[in-house]
Parts: sequence; structure tokens; C-alpha cells
Amino acid sequence: MNISLKKVMNCNMLKYNTFGMNVTARCFMEYGSEAGLLKAIEQIKDESNVLHIGGGSNLLFKGDFDGVVLHSAIKGIKAEEENDDDVLVRVGSGEVWDDFVEYCVERGWGGVENLSLIPGEVGASAVQNIGAYGVEAKDVIALVEGIELKSGQKRVFGTLECDYSYRQSIFKNSLKGKYAITFVTYRLKKHPVLKTEYGNIKAVLGARENLTVRDVRQAIIDIRNAKLPDPKVLGNAGSFFMNPVVDKEKFFEIQKDYPSMPYYEVENGVKIPAGWMIEQCGWKGKSLGRAAVHDKQALVLVNLGGATSDEIVALSDAVCKSVADKFGVSIHPEVNFI
Ligand code: EPU
Repeated sequence: MNISLKKVMNCNMLKYNTFGMNVTARCFMEYGSEAGLLKAIEQIKDESNVLHIGGGSNLLFKGDFDGVVLHSAIKGIKAEEENDDDVLVRVGSGEVWDDFVEYCVERGWGGVENLSLIPGEVGASAVQNIGAYGVEAKDVIALVEGIELKSGQKRVFGTLECDYSYRQSIFKNSLKGKYAITFVTYRLKKHPVLKTEYGNIKAVLGARENLTVRDVRQAIIDIRNAKLPDPKVLGNAGSFFMNPVVDKEKFFEIQKDYPSMPYYEVENGVKIPAGWMIEQCGWKGKSLGRAAVHDKQALVLVNLGGATSDEIVALSDAVCKSVADKFGVSIHPEVNFI
């Protein structure tokens, strides 16, 4: 049995966070199998401060971490079951998300092509309910396997049990910090209906016919590359804020002054793109110290090089305050502050 477990004391976390924070964790443990995770659980049973990370693309370390950081290196992508329409693919939580997307696209299986190039790993897709261009992970997740950190008990969650909504799941709420995700099973389509309605996907695809999932993946890659900074060049954690949902009354009040404001009607109100509001506040491309609002997508905060977490937080606070002052709307970070 593979019980691989790597343990590093006083581990520098630079390569484990895309924001580029140069901090140290008291202990870093990486497991390569469920058995390795059980071994880690045994070793950390008296530890009160445990943080499970994925690709580190959605967190901001506010300083050194005095605790144990856990990371999955469970690999493997395997089609477990298929019929004429669907394929169920079980994927190790430590696989790089976009490698899995590429694997599906290569085989012509649809469902995740709109989620191309999202940084991070498979386990986080199930925790965070990652989403982009009209698709969310919950649309394709069939099962999530996790191990409770306290007891070492395995549990398999059906999609409904995960309680998914916009960037939310049970793993970020009532079960926050309680489970390590080991495998996620996705349901892909062999005869996919392509989703090209969102934003400018259609414009990028042009008038071509007989489009495939590969064409959609390429269009999404082109759109993302044009707007979103590459963390290897400019430290960032993707969208820094969530898009707020306001009630209809508030929406009409803002729309009166800004008739061309983009918006999306959702179940509980109207979603207004925070990036648009931040741009209206004049923040796009502006910096505070070594932290900046990205010049091509104002929802993203970037580390211009050597920024401290205090500088990022100061910028985040200033941006939230501007949006609240101008629009009377509260926006909140999507990024987890550690
Ligand atoms: N907009 C502006 N100015 C900006 C940014 C956006 O006016 O600086 C406007 C755009 O023109 C558009 C609208 O706001 O009309 C929405 O913009 P976009 O399509 O870029 O998406 P978003 O709402 O800003 C969300 C996700 C992204 C995801 C995109 C595409 C969240 C928090 N973010 O951003 O996810 O890629 O939609 O689906 O929901 C991430 O989570 O890290 C991420 C990048």
C-alpha cells in the first residue's frame, strides 16, 4: 500500500501561494494517498491549528503560519463508468485542475471546457465550487470523497449534500476545516451541448461551424490570458472579491445613474460585477504601496513584487470602502485570509 507522506518543518510557503507571500509554516505535510493522509492525521491529532491548502491560488497568508499545513498530492484520472451519453471520471484531489480539463477536452468529453485555465487543484474545485463563463464545478460534480481530519473516517458526499451555491459549499461552511478531500468524481458528456452564451465567448469563436470542446477551451484560454494576470509573473489569487447580490430596489437605484451597468439576474436578487464597480471608483490600474488593482480586470488584486500582506489588505480595505461610499454596496473578499 502507498502510504507516502512528506513532512517539512519550518517550510517556506512561497511556492504554495500564488500571491507570492514569503512566509513560513511551522510544519508542512503532503500526502500522496489516503493511507498517507491517515498517517498524517495520526501525527497531528493534538494539533489545534491545521490548514488544508490546494494550489494556494485563493489564499492570502497574513504572516507566518504557526501550525500544520496539509496538502494533497493524490494523483490519478480514471474513467470509472460510462454509457452512451456520460462518463464518470474519478480524479485525485492533488491533480492540477487544468490538467484534468485538458484530459477531458482531448477525449471530446464536455462539461469542464469553460473552466479551462482556472488555477488550483481538483480538491479545491469541490470545496470552492469554482466557476467561470457560465459553468460551475457543481454542474459536473457527481461525488466527493473526503476523510474527516478528527476521526480518520471516510465519507462520500453526493452533490446535494455538498450544498453548493455561488463560490460556496458545505466544506466552506458547516464542515469548514473538518474534511480533507481525497477524490472527486465528475460526470462528463460524450455529446456535449456547448455553452457559449457568456460574455464574449461567441465573439472570440467567430462564425465557425461544428465547434468542439477544444474550440471552446481555446477561446476561454484566449479570453483569460487577455484579462487575467499570470501568477508566475504577477502574484495574485484570481478574483479577490465576490460579486455582490443586491435586491431589486437597490439595483434600480444604481441603474438610474448608470444605465449601462452590466448585471445578472439571480434567484435572490441581481448580481452586479464588483470589477465594474471598482473600475467606476477609479481603482483600475491604481496601486497602494506594492499592491495594485489589475489594469485589465479590476476584480483582481496583484502583488507588484515584494508586497506584504498588510499592503494587500490595506488596498482591499480601501477598495471596499470606495465601493460602499459610491454605491452603498458591501463587497467581500473571495480570497481566504490566513
Ligand atoms: N467589468 C468591468 N471592469 C472590470 C472588470 C469587469 O467593467 O475591471 C465588467 C465586464 O465588462 C463585464 C462584467 O464586469 O461586463 C463581468 O466581468 P467578467 O466577465 O470579467 O467576470 P467577473 O464577474 O469580473 C467572474 C468570476 C471570474 C470568472 C469570470 C468569468 C467571480 C468572483 N469571478 O468575474 O472568476 O473568470 O466571472 O466567468 O465570480 C476567480 O474566481 O478567480 C475568477 C477569475
